[in-house]
Amino acid sequence: MLLHVEGVLSPDQVAECRRTLQAQAWVDGRVTAGAQSALAKRNLQVPAEAPAARALGETILEVLGRNAAFISAALPLKVFPPLFNRYDEGMGFDTHVDNAIRVSGQARYRTDLSATLFLTGPEDYDGGELIVEDIYGEHAVKLAAGDLILYPASSLHRVAPITRGSRWAAFFWVQSMVRTDARRSLLYDLDNAIQTTVGKVGQGDPAVVSLTGTYNNLLRMWAEV
Ligand code: NI
Repeated sequence: MLLHVEGVLSPDQVAECRRTLQAQAWVDGRVTAGAQSALAKRNLQVPAEAPAARALGETILEVLGRNAAFISAALPLKVFPPLFNRYDEGMGFDTHVDNAIRVSGQARYRTDLSATLFLTGPEDYDGGELIVEDIYGEHAVKLAAGDLILYPASSLHRVAPITRGSRWAAFFWVQSMVRTDARRSLLYDLDNAIQTTVGKVGQGDPAVVSLTGTYNNLLRMWAEV
């Protein structure tokens, strides 16, 4: 499942992020790439240990922790501290899959989901689409600044070359309580159906109570915590 979460950051928060990132020392993005993807990757990143970037990452995690759509879709157990990248004209990232495990300090994260939080809007650059392949074909993603895309980390994906301007983003991975995409998708659909039903008949309706019980029993069966 590809999920577009709108307005994760407000315009003011995006502007603040960009002001902070502007002042950072950007380095070659291959520092965090595996051997294979290093060949495919041409971009710039802020070093993970830069204090200002770490603080920005913390803020993003706090905001996501209050985002109902993100929580319902990702069912996060652990979220990798966000990193920041930038693609200038001529840069891109050829087709690859993300590493299954990422390490940050002493912690290891299984990458069930990949996330990109756009910090520049479509008006700021040409090209630069995130292209994700799944069984239905290719999906080209280019979102407003402040919006987030969530997709299975096992997907083949690439970033199309930039032909004008500059594309800035935060990116990170989620270790979900529910490992497989199909189960997460089912729980997400069921949660949405419950919320819609609550809107029509109210929280205390027996149908809502029953559906909520089913949701929790599925989560209890599938969650690894
Ligand atoms: Ni990737």
